[in-house]
Amino acid sequence: MLNHLLIYCRAGFESEAASEISTRAAELGFFGYPKFSPNRAFVLFHLTGQQGAPELMEQLKFRRLIFARQWVACTDPLSNVSTKDRITPLLAAADGLPQSAELFVETADTTDGRNLNSFARKFGSALSGAMRQAGLMLPRKQRANWRTHLFVIDGQTFWLGVSPIKNSCRWEQGILRLKFPPSAPSRSTLKLEEAWHWFVPKADWQAKIESGRTAVDLGAAPGGWTWQLVNRNMFVTAVDNGPMSEELMDSGQVDHRREDAFTFKPNKPVDMLVCDVVEKPSQVTELMAKWAVNRWSTILIFNLKLPMKQRFNEVESCLEQLQSILAEAQLSYKLEAKHLYHDREEITVYLELN
Ligand SMILES: C[S@@+](CC[C@H](N)C(=O)[O-])C[C@H]1O[C@@H](n2cnc3c(N)ncnc32)[C@H](O)[C@@H]1O
Repeated sequence: MLNHLLIYCRAGFESEAASEISTRAAELGFFGYPKFSPNRAFVLFHLTGQQGAPELMEQLKFRRLIFARQWVACTDPLSNVSTKDRITPLLAAADGLPQSAELFVETADTTDGRNLNSFARKFGSALSGAMRQAGLMLPRKQRANWRTHLFVIDGQTFWLGVSPIKNSCRWEQGILRLKFPPSAPSRSTLKLEEAWHWFVPKADWQAKIESGRTAVDLGAAPGGWTWQLVNRNMFVTAVDNGPMSEELMDSGQVDHRREDAFTFKPNKPVDMLVCDVVEKPSQVTELMAKWAVNRWSTILIFNLKLPMKQRFNEVESCLEQLQSILAEAQLSYKLEAKHLYHDREEITVYLELN
């Protein structure tokens, strides 16, 4: 039975990922306990009831999870695998899994994990060949509901499992690797680009992140997020007391206002609001609620900086605070949050009003 749910997360956020999956599973009547070691970048949730991980994955939307980069329904771990023949026991374990057409061979996003990458790549291609030969994998182009994952802990310890293609992350290791654009003025730029990739379906990019649209960037300096907006040919009001990159200002698409983000009011509504102000998460939440209730923008993308402790509880409380204000204002909306790969001590929230 696939009664382990393996969750990948950023190293140092295991406790948040564990609290989150325990809470979301319990809300759906699934019980179990999480196991993790600090800084290993993964959590195991062991389901103890009649139903296993695939049943939980049927009822819980992966997008509901903030701290999980990926989830995999796993068998028991394979440990003490002989280095002379690793393939045979893995083929035996793969025999009971739902059929899939692709294999992701992954390691934890840690230094130890990275040191295993070259072994994982080589071994993965040998294993996928052997699985195909043994009839344990569908032809590459065949449609499947599941994807197989081999999570390599070390040369002798593996977790083997599956994730539902339509309810998981499509990127290996749950990580979107983006190239840093050399002309962008700060590394933060990748946070906004990743947010678009995660929250906005590609088919909607044209309509939502389009040439000629208007945006406000709160806490904009030196301009990494503004750079992304300008790069999509948007017109941006950049609000920050700090200096903006001169090159960006030369684009002629940026109006820099040296004002306080908490009192700034746009002259007329804009198409997109982004906010990367470093402030208490509850204050930023309140500010975003004000923008939404006034309909100053219908798409809001913002970061909530996380406190040192009780990070999961703080996130839950901010999102509840926002939802209750939106409900009171009778707004209908889509709200999602994610601890993105390019986020560190913060999460990114996407709010779209209908
Ligand atoms: C993390 S940085 C933003 C980085 C920016 N997103 C980028 O990609 O380059 C946070 C910014 O928020 C600004 N900030 C903090 N409090 C603010 C406030 N009350 N009003 C306006 N800007 C504020 C700071 O000056 C700082 O430039």
